[in-house]
Amino acid sequence: SQVCVIIPAAGSGTRLGEPIPKAFVDLRGRTILERCVDQVLDLNARVVVVVPADLVARARLLLPSQVSVVAGGAHRSTSVRAGLAAAGAAGIILVHDAARPLTPVSVFRRVIDAIRSGHRAVIPGIPVADTLKHVEQIGAGLAQVTTTVDRDLLRAIQTPQGFTREALIAAHADDEGLATDDAGLAERIGIPVCVVDGHPMAMKITTPWDLRVIRQILDSGEV
Ligand code: C5P
Repeated sequence: SQVCVIIPAAGSGTRLGEPIPKAFVDLRGRTILERCVDQVLDLNARVVVVVPADLVARARLLLPSQVSVVAGGAHRSTSVRAGLAAAGAAGIILVHDAARPLTPVSVFRRVIDAIRSGHRAVIPGIPVADTLKHVEQIGAGLAQVTTTVDRDLLRAIQTPQGFTREALIAAHADDEGLATDDAGLAERIGIPVCVVDGHPMAMKITTPWDLRVIRQILDSGEV
């Protein structure tokens, strides 16, 4: 079955503190969005990029001509649905944050392979290194621990999140716009979601610190 990768890149990226939307921030000579698209070209998949409406023309200039560019919406899930409308007839659809521009193609392949072997929803995850605790806020800058969770039972979830076309459409059918990930929508309607191995290089750029880390990695010449 044909694969389509939807790349939501229509967020403003306010937490990054840059004057332009996150996907258009420079990473050593190329935008986050260009680097992200580069990583998926080897898959021979259809690629749909979703950007802010006023940056559609700019994205078309930056990206290879075979990549489709559409305008996004106010919420992440609205942007994903805009991408879905442009996904064509693909039977397998991956949703991949533009904010994870160095994700190795091996992660995409693991997700696609697991879908091909019969799973309807597949997401990459990595073990959690930190100890995680539930807390309750008791003052400014002060919280009290309620419980410690067993981190062996936890995974930090990355993208690409992969779905059969039917599963992704069903997951988005009754969304109210508040979901931060697509698998969460699938879980809500009872679709089993499987986790495959993610990769540290699939890290997400959210804060200025993340941008520093990614730029250092690029400077090291390792990628
Ligand atoms: O805000 P956050 O970093 O979680 O966004 C994850 C991804 O979703 C980013 O790549 C962002 O550009 C995208 N997004 C979008 N449309 C929105 C909000 C976020 O495409 N309205």
